[in-house]
Amino acid sequence: MTAGITTSMRQFLESKPSLKFLFFGGKGGVGKTVIAGATAVWLARQGRRTLLASTNPVHSLSSLLGFEVFGQITPLPGVAHGFAYEIDTKETIEKSRREIKDKINWFLRFADIQLKAEEFVEAATLNPAFEESAMFENMLTLMFGGEFDTYVFDTAPTANARRLLGMSKVYSLWVDKMVKSREEAKSLRQLLSFTKKKEEADPLMNYLVNLRQRLDRARELLTDPALTAFFFITLPEALPIAVITRFLQWFQDFGIPVGGIIVNGLLPSGDRAALPEFIRNRLDMQAEHLKTIWQLFNGQVRALVPLFPSEIQGLPSLNRLSEELFG
Ligand SMILES: Nc1ncnc2c1ncn2[C@@H]1O[C@H](COP(=O)(O)OP(=O)(O)OP(=O)(O)O)[C@@H](O)[C@H]1O
Ligand SMILES: [Mg+2]
Repeated sequence: MTAGITTSMRQFLESKPSLKFLFFGGKGGVGKTVIAGATAVWLARQGRRTLLASTNPVHSLSSLLGFEVFGQITPLPGVAHGFAYEIDTKETIEKSRREIKDKINWFLRFADIQLKAEEFVEAATLNPAFEESAMFENMLTLMFGGEFDTYVFDTAPTANARRLLGMSKVYSLWVDKMVKSREEAKSLRQLLSFTKKKEEADPLMNYLVNLRQRLDRARELLTDPALTAFFFITLPEALPIAVITRFLQWFQDFGIPVGGIIVNGLLPSGDRAALPEFIRNRLDMQAEHLKTIWQLFNGQVRALVPLFPSEIQGLPSLNRLSEELFG
């Protein structure tokens, strides 16, 4: 087996000009945000109208870039066609809360239940999965909007990305069931109804049907290798490698296209003898883990990115990272 990059990040992206949705996953702190940023900058420089978007409730794009992109699609200065955006999850949650309240109120009236909607709303929206759904909804709204040629998503760390996608399947099943039982309830109600007055419009049903359509569409887009690619980032260390190994398995199971693996944080080698023992040990450790990486991910590694002397912050340093990634 020959170790080495067979298709680089640049070659991969150049071979897929139709690619529209790029995601970056991996263990916490491995460089997802900076690599998503560097990729977005490169894509914009190729003339593609590109949005670097964060759906994560704990944002880091503004601090990466050094200017505010929260709540507003903001052009990247000096990068034609490049934009960044941190979605306001709180606002989405508030909006969904109001909408859910309306729907629950409607349903309680429909079912002649003498209860206040508040407790149901609380129960539904204090659920931690609610925030994730809101993030997912926001992501879909952006994806369906089609204002950009390419969307680069800085996804939430670890299992969230996969949960987000797994949710679409589970949601869809759930919605199917709900729609079916709603239809049954509706026809029963019509059968039992003495007054033959026409049924009023059913907002809950409309909502469910609409949700199912959105999820079906999302799954179509997210599982289409011509449109979507997930990239996994790892350091040459045991834990991040274990995390992306699991991810790869999950993503295969869900039929989600994997774009490849980026290895970040490589120490510069040089004259070994001149290096302190501490650095030599770290270099040996990285070399060992690199062997594992070539074994496990042969043909899927798209780039080896060196550890920079300082953290990546601001557009100039993103540009440098972009050169390393695509150079
Ligand atoms: N190649 C590199 N050289 C130097 N610093 C780097 C490199 N890659 C990432 N960093 C720094 O490491 C830190 C973590 O990077 P980043 O925020 O992109 O990770 P993340 O995977 O998005 O983290 P989180 O899981 O918290 O979202 C940042 O301070 C970043 O500037
Ligand atoms: Mg991040």
